[in-house]
Amino acid sequence: MIEPAAALQNLLRQQAAIARFGSFALRERDLMAILTEAARVCAEGLGARHSKVCQYRAEQNDLLIVAGFGWRDGVIGHVVSRADMSSPQGRAFSTGEPSICNDLGKDAGFDLPAFYAAHGIVSTIDVIIKGADDQPYGILEIDSDTQHDYDQYDINFLTGFANILAEAVSTASRGAALQVSVDRMKALVEEKDRLLYEKNAADQQLRQAQKMEAIGQLTGGVAHDLNNILTVITGTIEILSEAVAGRPELAAIAQMMDEAASRGGDLTQRLLAFARKQPLQPSEVDVNSLVMETAKLLRPTLGEHVEVHMKLAGDTSHALIDPSQLNNAILNLALNARDAMPDGGKLTIETSNVVLDDGYASIHGDVVAGNYVMLTVTDSGHGIPADILEHVFEPFFTTKDVDKGSGLGLSMVYGFVKQSNGHIKIYSEAGHGTTVRIYLPQAIGAVSAAEVASIPAIEGGRETILVVEDDHLVRTFVMGQIRSLGYTALAAVNAAEALAVIDSPQPIDLLFTDMIMPGAMNGRQLADAALQRRAALKVLFTSGYSQEAIIHHGHLDAGVLLLAKPYRKPELARMLRAALAA
Ligand SMILES: Nc1ncnc2c1ncn2[C@@H]1O[C@H](COP(=O)(O)OP(=O)(O)OP(=O)(O)O)[C@@H](O)[C@H]1O
Ligand SMILES: [Mg+2]
Repeated sequence: MIEPAAALQNLLRQQAAIARFGSFALRERDLMAILTEAARVCAEGLGARHSKVCQYRAEQNDLLIVAGFGWRDGVIGHVVSRADMSSPQGRAFSTGEPSICNDLGKDAGFDLPAFYAAHGIVSTIDVIIKGADDQPYGILEIDSDTQHDYDQYDINFLTGFANILAEAVSTASRGAALQVSVDRMKALVEEKDRLLYEKNAADQQLRQAQKMEAIGQLTGGVAHDLNNILTVITGTIEILSEAVAGRPELAAIAQMMDEAASRGGDLTQRLLAFARKQPLQPSEVDVNSLVMETAKLLRPTLGEHVEVHMKLAGDTSHALIDPSQLNNAILNLALNARDAMPDGGKLTIETSNVVLDDGYASIHGDVVAGNYVMLTVTDSGHGIPADILEHVFEPFFTTKDVDKGSGLGLSMVYGFVKQSNGHIKIYSEAGHGTTVRIYLPQAIGAVSAAEVASIPAIEGGRETILVVEDDHLVRTFVMGQIRSLGYTALAAVNAAEALAVIDSPQPIDLLFTDMIMPGAMNGRQLADAALQRRAALKVLFTSGYSQEAIIHHGHLDAGVLLLAKPYRKPELARMLRAALAA
């Protein structure tokens, strides 16, 4: 029995230890550190060399040693005991009462793990640690390698610690719960931001696409009519030129008119390209070779002070694209780059295969997910400020002097890429250069367009040609040209008239028809009807642009001959012969 004075001393020491530990637990945020420190101080306070904290695991219904003092490796975090009467800690946990075992060897009811014997544990005392809610957290146990007579003071001492631990456990679990809800809230906010961003991006893309669509329709309409007018002008100038050949001053004027008309023709072609209405001849194109060829052409144009770099991926697939238009697009981009680097700089052309996935397609409404060849043109020039960037694809938008730029370069590239089922993206910032990425659909299998022969000398013929054209001016002019080539020309204003001629006994070798005509039938339908009546009849279509069946999405159907307006006599002559020989 301890002396009362000594017992009092002991009690005071224990009280002081609990108080010290309490203030430690208040400062410390790491629960494991608190549990470990409690185990250490308690063992010291009770003169033992080992102690542990076991956490109850409801799913397994067991007690796992999560912290402790004095043990060899392999105990903490590993050893479990059943949360029932078969172990000292299980007994305290099940009954909720402190459990004292002064001599483990005598208590035959326990089924103790081997490490007790390995550490020479002889006596134990256990108290329960309450938890955040109804479920207790676990057990605090002191293990001694000597027999002990634990008394009520010892139990009070341990319970003091266990109460502080219970407080720490519930604070920690509140903290964890709080953290979980904070994390969840953060995730929700992020998700909301992401959706908002995607929606904004999609909205902006949509507005931009609608704007471009509207401009495209307007441009296409104007270009179409202009084309018809130019067809007449270019043709009649030729007649004029021949007539005034002997009068130099008039010949010079005719020459000027011709040049003006051909510039007009150029302009309409570019407008049609923007409006996605140019007849394209897509074929399977080796983009790398085309880029290298184009780069050779570029060298002299760019000048000495522009360095050209190429990074062409060896495995770049072939693209299904009109090669001459792609060539044209690269030239336009390179010229823009040159203009942006008046003091010299670096132009980089890259190719590679890329996949545009569903995610990308969902933001860019006009993109079909799939495999593309990406062609990237980058310059180190002055870049484009944001307020200008949104306009660069618009026709006639330019920041260059009147005689330096028409503002049609990027419009053409845009129209061509879109018409080719591709995708285009421009990245630029003022002062940081510009990157234009063009995504071209990869070619799958060989879809090669008919080779277009080079233009031979003008060749006429004696066959009979039925011309169907609603525009009076154009018709008159074309008839004249066809006759001047030696052919017999018959005229029809529309499909109905044409069919009347076809139904007559009149011999006809070739139907030469416009695509877009007023009345019930367009050129394609007229041709179909005509072929039903005269299977041997040859057909040649003409159009400024062709939206109908003949040009499926702007692409010529294989085997269909189309003469694009405006055309010159040699082209007309060549196409007439080609159609008659078909
Ligand atoms: N690489 C670039 N660096 C800086 N600005 C550019 C670049 N490419 C285009 N731009 C800007 O976009 C505008 C429109 O370009 P676009 O090619 O359509 O027309 P342009 O070059 O002005 O005239 P055009 O090509 O018809 O001769 C340019 O005037 C310029 O302001
Ligand atoms: Mg340009």
